[in-house]
Amino acid sequence: MDKKPFIALFICFAVAGTVYTSAQDVNNGKKIYNEYCKTCHQDNGQGLGVVYPPLAKSDYISKTDKQTIIREVVFGKVGKVKVNGKEFNGMMMPLPPKYKDKDISDVISYVFTNFGNKKGKVTEKEVTAAKKKGKIK
Ligand code: HEC
Repeated sequence: MDKKPFIALFICFAVAGTVYTSAQDVNNGKKIYNEYCKTCHQDNGQGLGVVYPPLAKSDYISKTDKQTIIREVVFGKVGKVKVNGKEFNGMMMPLPPKYKDKDISDVISYVFTNFGNKKGKVTEKEVTAAKKKGKIK
């Protein structure tokens, strides 16, 4: 099999990756995911049973505006939510205050650009603006 096209593609992604993301932000996002979000949403964002919805290829993420998701992650989320055809009715706790706006943008960007999601990144400014709007009633 000719591996050249794959290698070329890989180089493209690698170059694009270093141009558009600083490795530090990605590492910080991944670190926070692993120390916090993973407990519930699991290693690869696959979720857990009927309790924790998946983040992997989540149609909820793809169709919900970024501000709403930021506010739900920061202030918590309760009640029914349908993700990839399955209904969940649980509760996500508010994010511990030790995570600063930069941490929040890093971890949400990490989720939005991994696990098969193509939502794009969120900036620290977007997080600050979303937080000002407060909890979703
Ligand atoms: C203590 C468990 C727990 C932790 C930790 C947690 N979540 Fe959640 N998350 C949930 C539950 C439960 C729901 C569904 C809430 C509902 O039923 O409305 C949810 C829903 C979501 C949703 C919307 C539904 C979906 O699957 O697309 C997103 C996005 C999300 N969480 C992201 C995160 C991120 C990012 C983190 C880490 C910063 C995180 N969560 C940490 C339990 C958790």
